[in-house]
Amino acid sequence: MAEFSLPANSRVQPGKTFPAKAGAKKPRKFRIYRYDPEEQKNPHVDTYEIDLAECGPMVLDALIKIKGEVDSTLTFRRSCREGICGSCSMNIGGENTLACTRAIEDVPGTDVAIYPLPHMAVIRDLVVDFSKFWAQYESIQPWLKTESADPQKERLQSPDDRAKLDGLYECILCACCSTACPSYWWNGDRYLGPAVLLQSHRWLIDSRDEGTGERLDELEDPFKLYRCHTIMNCTQTCPKGLNPAKAIGEIKKMMVERKL
Ligand code: SF4
Ligand code: SF4
Ligand code: FES
Repeated sequence: MAEFSLPANSRVQPGKTFPAKAGAKKPRKFRIYRYDPEEQKNPHVDTYEIDLAECGPMVLDALIKIKGEVDSTLTFRRSCREGICGSCSMNIGGENTLACTRAIEDVPGTDVAIYPLPHMAVIRDLVVDFSKFWAQYESIQPWLKTESADPQKERLQSPDDRAKLDGLYECILCACCSTACPSYWWNGDRYLGPAVLLQSHRWLIDSRDEGTGERLDELEDPFKLYRCHTIMNCTQTCPKGLNPAKAIGEIKKMMVERKL
């Protein structure tokens, strides 16, 4: 039987508890993963009790309240606070989602458990390293490729061709799907993952793009595309309601059709 040992710093330890202020009308606990590389200690989980009667409705409201009023060391990314920038992606109540669009009252369980996106290297607290993810995104060349178009002229598209991009262009690259995908967990260095493949499909089917053949050539690889086993975690978790598994299926179909 294979034997392995966990790295010394992999065990998450209990942390501090910050109780609610006296007289809190609607207290709820937030259990939040904390990790500071400068401390040279294992990660831990701190518990913050927040009065929801004095807090906005979203998980991001609670995080901002904790950082502003209880513990300024808590570190997380956010920008738009309306589900557009993709920077507040994290694991909330066991599900990858956006802190700014997840209502606190919709998080199951007694406490609200908040962890970084799974299987990503943690930089600090809820902030993970997206370097590999962005390099994979860059690798699919996410821009229009054309030889024949006159750069001085508008590139027109029929309403029907434009409609084919619906369900794809809305992706905000939050990586909730990729970091929920078991294939990406185990082969993330070579499998592109659902987010990047959905983006790839967006360019593959753009009627104005002339790079379809070379884009498909690039994906013809045992790992980049074919590690998807249609487990559907990606589609289930996407906070924008998109369907990366379907997009991956469409790319596989294009691969087959071009060989017929
Ligand atoms: S497909 Fe959905 S979950 Fe995946 S990166 Fe795009 S918006 Fe995020
Ligand atoms: S359907 Fe494919 S991409 Fe989506 S979670 Fe499953 S293996 Fe990953
Ligand atoms: S803050 Fe931009 S998506 Fe949440």
